[in-house]
Amino acid sequence: MAVERTLSIIKPDATRRNLTGKINARFEDNGLRIVAQRRLQLTRVQAEAFYGVHKERSFFNDLCDFMTSGPVVAQVFEGEGAVAKNREIMGATNPANADEGTIRKDFAESVEANSVHGSDSPENAAIEIAFFFAETDIVG
Ligand code: CMP
Repeated sequence: MAVERTLSIIKPDATRRNLTGKINARFEDNGLRIVAQRRLQLTRVQAEAFYGVHKERSFFNDLCDFMTSGPVVAQVFEGEGAVAKNREIMGATNPANADEGTIRKDFAESVEANSVHGSDSPENAAIEIAFFFAETDIVG
């Protein structure tokens, strides 16, 4: 399997509960390397642009409110099959459907406040990584 990069975000519900370290340990213990990381407060414009693909969905406004409600940690992970591995470690979008031992099962509060985001394909990973990081910010 190819070495890939993917974009991860630790969401405001998790930074608020001081879970950054515990969440990072899940990823690192499962073979992903954090090769870039930045804590930031998203602006409304940034949140709407990042989730632009969802702008017609009923939850779009609430999602943007939530994503700007506190700091996030944007990260780039690197590893064999990193996109799929990251999604496996996160678990299903809705924590009610997430497998035992996944981040969302153990930490998420709701489908909206679900603690982490991860890119859904290598193509979107490249777009989402470029949203937050310059190539020179990423040190493998
Ligand atoms: P994420 O992987 O960041 O991508 C889009 C986000 O929308 C998703 O995680 C959820 O946090 C959020 N969301 C809120 N409500 C819904 C919903 N009903 N279905 C899917 N995603 C939702």
